[in-house]
Amino acid sequence: MNARILLLGSGELGKEFAISAKRLGCRVIAVDRYDDAPAMQVADARETIDMLDGAALARCVRKHKPDFIVPEIEAIRTSELLKLEKAGHSVVPSAFAAHMTMNRDAIRELAAKELGLRTARYAYAASAQELADAILAKGGVGLPCVVKPTMSSSGKGQSVVRTKGEIAKAWKYAIEGMRGDRPVVIVEEFIDFDYEITQLTVKERAVRGGGVHFVEPIGHRQERGDYQESWMPCPMKPAAKRAAQEMAAKVVTRLAGKDGAGIFGVEFFVKGGDVIFSELSPRPHDTGMVTLRSQDLSEFDLHIRAILGLPIPEIRYAGPTASAVVLATRDSTKAPRYAGVEQAMAIAGVEVRLFGKPTTRKYRRMGVVLAHGKTATDARKIAMTAASMISVR
Ligand SMILES: Nc1ncnc2c1ncn2[C@@H]1O[C@H](COP(=O)(O)OP(=O)(O)OP(=O)(O)O)[C@@H](O)[C@H]1O
Ligand SMILES: [Mg+2]
Repeated sequence: MNARILLLGSGELGKEFAISAKRLGCRVIAVDRYDDAPAMQVADARETIDMLDGAALARCVRKHKPDFIVPEIEAIRTSELLKLEKAGHSVVPSAFAAHMTMNRDAIRELAAKELGLRTARYAYAASAQELADAILAKGGVGLPCVVKPTMSSSGKGQSVVRTKGEIAKAWKYAIEGMRGDRPVVIVEEFIDFDYEITQLTVKERAVRGGGVHFVEPIGHRQERGDYQESWMPCPMKPAAKRAAQEMAAKVVTRLAGKDGAGIFGVEFFVKGGDVIFSELSPRPHDTGMVTLRSQDLSEFDLHIRAILGLPIPEIRYAGPTASAVVLATRDSTKAPRYAGVEQAMAIAGVEVRLFGKPTTRKYRRMGVVLAHGKTATDARKIAMTAASMISVR
């Protein structure tokens, strides 16, 4: 124990992870590109650097000599993580996993081509014309479809194209919303799914047998590419559940490599009997915040246990639980104030988590409401009602 953890990314997921790690006596150094980020507020030390700057990352590692480097976000100079791993540092779950999931095309090629997982039909395009061809050509992706920058997260630059006339706009929107300097988009067949899930999957250390554990599937609803609510249980037909678990195990095992360990959030669309792989995070998943209340070991507890090579026994579930997000409504550099928290907290079974973000942006996630209910539907209703009572000023 008392491992030194360098946490790369200090948002709300990092904050909960830091708390779980602190509970096991770890020393946490929280890193982000802005000061006073949520995880920094509960960590032992902080660093404010640009994590896309490889040299700055390397300096940070030299200074703190961590036992584990734990990425919490995608936007990290992952080529530097590969170098650090080669030099003997332990990157969670592996530098390869962080590297492959930084861009949508790398993980898609691995999942669809190398591992043969079922995905939506897709193509890439590097110009508006290529995009139109990829969609409209015979055997192309077709309409409707979804256009995403290959480098982006939280739905940035992502849009649904329903008609030919919308293609040029989707290209422009993607290029404006992309991260980095590679103007390439992925265009996917639009899957009119019945529901979508996150399959949280834990990969154990080799010393623990290197096995894979599954958390019960989490249902969720997205808007503008960002999650609005998530819930458990999310009943699935046994065959669909098995298919999701098999695919999750495949991709997680491949990404973790020989001794990689940690939790992954593997996203699937379910339509009829079909289970379609979408993407994954080699780290706790935002929709998994519901596990803060739905079970004895949250996704953050599971992550730190896997990292430290501690046992992962059977998870005990607390019954139907839901999470609903609290969003800011406008941009402001002033410290946010919250109204309605008391009303929300007066509801039995409701708990409120405010992340402590120092500033707001329109639609920025500032907090989450967690609620129990008699059924998942009931828990969702309660969580959404309580979240709607809270406003960010
Ligand atoms: N091919 C598709 N068909 C239908 N809906 C889609 C498709 N691709 C994405 N979506 C919807 O958009 C949401 C966000 O897409 P995706 O998970 O690919 O990007 P992201 O959420 O921006 O990435 P990240 O999870 O890294 O933030 C999905 O959860 C889903 O609801
Ligand atoms: Mg996603």
